[in-house]
Amino acid sequence: MAEDLRLTPGLAREERYKEILPQIAAVISDETDTIANLANIAAILKEAFGFFWVGFYRLKEGELVLGPFQGPLACTRISLDRGVCGAAASAKQTIIVPDVEKFPGHIACSSASRSEIVVPLVAEEQTILVLDVDSDQYNDFSETDQYYLGQLMEMVRSVYQLPENQRVS
Ligand code: SME
Repeated sequence: MAEDLRLTPGLAREERYKEILPQIAAVISDETDTIANLANIAAILKEAFGFFWVGFYRLKEGELVLGPFQGPLACTRISLDRGVCGAAASAKQTIIVPDVEKFPGHIACSSASRSEIVVPLVAEEQTILVLDVDSDQYNDFSETDQYYLGQLMEMVRSVYQLPENQRVS
């Protein structure tokens, strides 16, 4: 696989998503290990957008457990009734929070976080994984992020479905 991301300077966010999603598809299609793929996806999102924190939490034994991420130290376990991650995992729906201080139960892993989007991956009616992206800017996420990060999670689903793949459980 290519070692470097191709990032055209100055692209707006939607164009940047269109540029990186095929590159992510190429990277993860070459690899069957789930953790390796999630690690590279977190790295690509961080490099492409400069988000404050990007990472995954996996559902394990009824709670969310920290997976591959890029950014500052994060809390390792989140119960399903806590935080934006727990809310999105329970609702099985993407949640966008324009101002984290106004979200009841938001878990402040860092006081620098201002807004957040959490996108769950639902399989067989269960959330198995969430992607959490935090920004140090208020109101940094929109339906554009929801759409393209949703597409990204569909790519992750296709990797999970490879029979020889190492499933997260
Ligand atoms: N803010 C998240 C917790 C995870 S960290 O921000 C990395 C939440 O409220 O679920």
